[in-house]
Amino acid sequence: MEVRLAGRVEALTPSTTLAITAKAKELKEQGEDVIGLGAGEPDFNTPQHILDAATVSMNEGHTKYTPSAGLPALKMAIISKFEKDQGLTYKANEIIVGNGAKHILYTLFQVILDEGDEVIIPTPYWVSYPEQVKLAGGVPVYVEGKEANQFKITPEQLVSVITNKTKAVIINSPSNPTGVIYSAEELQALGEICLEHNVLIVSDEIYEKLIYGHNQHTSIAQLSPELKEQTIVVNGVSKSHSMTGWRIGYAAGNKEIIAAMTNLASHSTSNPTTTAQYAAIAAYNGSQEPVEEMRKAFESRLEIIYEKLVSIPGFTCVKPQGAFYLYPNVKAAAEMTGYKDVDAFVEALLVEAKVAVIPGSGFGTPDNIRLSYATSLDLLEKAVDRMKQFVESKR
Ligand SMILES: Cc1ncc(COP(=O)(O)O)c(C=O)c1O
Repeated sequence: MEVRLAGRVEALTPSTTLAITAKAKELKEQGEDVIGLGAGEPDFNTPQHILDAATVSMNEGHTKYTPSAGLPALKMAIISKFEKDQGLTYKANEIIVGNGAKHILYTLFQVILDEGDEVIIPTPYWVSYPEQVKLAGGVPVYVEGKEANQFKITPEQLVSVITNKTKAVIINSPSNPTGVIYSAEELQALGEICLEHNVLIVSDEIYEKLIYGHNQHTSIAQLSPELKEQTIVVNGVSKSHSMTGWRIGYAAGNKEIIAAMTNLASHSTSNPTTTAQYAAIAAYNGSQEPVEEMRKAFESRLEIIYEKLVSIPGFTCVKPQGAFYLYPNVKAAAEMTGYKDVDAFVEALLVEAKVAVIPGSGFGTPDNIRLSYATSLDLLEKAVDRMKQFVESKR
């Protein structure tokens, strides 16, 4: 049979993250000792009390459909979390729980975008934003977060790309891939422009709990009642509680948008997996100590690995303040080792140095690479040593 796929699918850009991970896997299967630094998930198991709560819920027979926007008890747990962490007050009809923050974002763009509506996406960006916007008929408008400004966009840049088609701007702080955090003052300045031009703010705060040193996380929604109105906050338990496989994420904000998302969810997913919702209730209502333990582990790895990484010739790196990624600029290293660009350098790192990293081209900044430090310190040190040797032997 000759298959003709829908145009919207053919326009999708294949994930660079998956391509390099697949190649690394293939090499490993051939017996090569490849170290993968591509992971986008914590390397710890989900904390025990969360696993136990999931088991109990199943044994008690909670194995049926739930309301499409999530169990009332989970919404309550999320509402308490917002109160406690940000002093934000939401009602139950301003919250939707979905199958991971990724699917929440997908649903959100489906309900807010009409054909041709523009969404402002700062670069470097998380790979799924542009594809999700395009799938909803929207048009991604990129704004360069300059490395000299720690990859953050300025109010002047934001205002310069707003048109009468602009529907929303995405803010991801702490950021994947850079780990950079916007300060309250920076968010306030961007927020004022969004209020003035009626641009919806999509605030992806999935790395909120992974903050290092003296840095602090601020949600743009907590800065004023007007900004809360203007913002849809997206968050979830994947990164904070090491629950990537459970697929629980949520959005909080304007009740009409949440109602539209709930309507769409009722025809697409029905509800997020019931057992996973019970697990997420335990994640928020139970002890937060495991969250802090994981955060500390990431922070100590970052301190060690950052110094080693920037000692590699041709590598410079904005120091991350959160999340679990490093995003060095390696253009000089690619040039001094004779590669035509960073994509080719990444390919050689994998094949010759046996280290898998993600090329920045997938995040909209082709001179960088993304390394995840969600892996053991031993492996991290070994991987960085290999990269250093590789560059030194070729320059
Ligand atoms: C910036 C960002 N947003 C959202 C997500 C989606 O998280 P999940 O769907 O696991 O909740 C990720 C996962 O990698 C991410 O990096």
